[in-house]
Amino acid sequence: MRVLVIGSGGREHALLLGLTRDPSVTDLHVAPGNAGTAAVATNHAVDVTSAEAVVALAREVAADLVVIGPEVPLVLGVADALRAVGFATFGPSADAARIEGSKAFAKDVMAAAGVRTAHAEVVDNPAKLDAALDRFGPTWVVKDDGLAAGKGVVVTPDRAAARAHAADCLESGHPVLLESFLDGPEVSLFCLVDGENVVPLLPAQDHKRVGDNDTGPNTGGMGAYTPLPWLPAETVTQIVDDVVTPVAAELVRRGSGFSGLLYAGLAIGADGPAVVEFNCRFGDPETQAVLALLQSPLGEALNAVATGTLDQLPPLRWSDGAAVTVVVAAENYPGTPRTGDVITGAEADGVLHAGTKRNDDGDIVSAGGRVLAVVGTGADLEQARAQAYERIAAIKLAGSHHRTDIGKAALEGRISV
Ligand code: GLY
Repeated sequence: MRVLVIGSGGREHALLLGLTRDPSVTDLHVAPGNAGTAAVATNHAVDVTSAEAVVALAREVAADLVVIGPEVPLVLGVADALRAVGFATFGPSADAARIEGSKAFAKDVMAAAGVRTAHAEVVDNPAKLDAALDRFGPTWVVKDDGLAAGKGVVVTPDRAAARAHAADCLESGHPVLLESFLDGPEVSLFCLVDGENVVPLLPAQDHKRVGDNDTGPNTGGMGAYTPLPWLPAETVTQIVDDVVTPVAAELVRRGSGFSGLLYAGLAIGADGPAVVEFNCRFGDPETQAVLALLQSPLGEALNAVATGTLDQLPPLRWSDGAAVTVVVAAENYPGTPRTGDVITGAEADGVLHAGTKRNDDGDIVSAGGRVLAVVGTGADLEQARAQAYERIAAIKLAGSHHRTDIGKAALEGRISV
């Protein structure tokens, strides 16, 4: 099977590595890719937001399966364009991708599906902002109603900071969503979804704030671990039955059936799981940890979704033990990152590339905010963490930073439901 992966980040590198372990995958291509993906696939410098360019590339490499990683091409309808000309494609239509692309659409689908989520109000007029803020908080949750790579969300006990973020979004012409704050530890549950068929992967937990002990601004995610020792075994089934399956069915009912990866971000509160957000693609950096434990052939699983045969896929098999991903970020991330710095030690086992490229001298240099995602595995969380941090210690990138506490609260038994 010849597979084309769209996207250049850490989750795409993880998907490519997973695909290399599937004996049915004979040929791997990626667009545009990065310095790390070039070691396992052929990189193609193609604009992945252009449906025309992606279709042309899929034809050029004679792809049997196209896997779309990032949300932007999905929201723009790149999967629709590929399917229209007959390519088996892993990734939802533009209509279904609104579950991530528009927070207001996601709320509407959840209300119709009877799924627990935060109470929310859309504000699209600055004159209505103050009154709306008075109906929420503290704590305030203010979201940009559009794609913002995880950085459009501000969660704060400070009304002035909440107001400032909302006013910025409105000034740039985006409506904002105010939400009630959901208490409880967060879980990312990724599900393969093909219409009404839902197959969950292992649950993971992201660490969204930039600093240790959840301090500083939100990021796209600074690290993750899987599985979750504190999560009751039946909770995954509960999330599938009460959250993901009803949402998948509601999308089918609306004629926007989902085909791809539906990512539920949930808070596990006293009354059970409640949805924080949905995404229409694999999450980053949870994917790097989750796929490190997948034993089943990844290409076969993604192809089953793409060809509408997920109901025939054998149950997924997983390694015992745990996996941890730690993101190495560039100086100043999540602000405008410093780029162009030479990285050493980035070609080692477990080092996945997110924002890297080769310069004219052939050195690997930083080319984005989240630069690397370093994965460790082991018999338990403690061993997986130790391996991830050992691997990080061998990497040099001037000005870089990473969290030192990924998975630590879980390891120390400080998370409970
Ligand atoms: N884990 C955060 C995201 O992928 O959006």
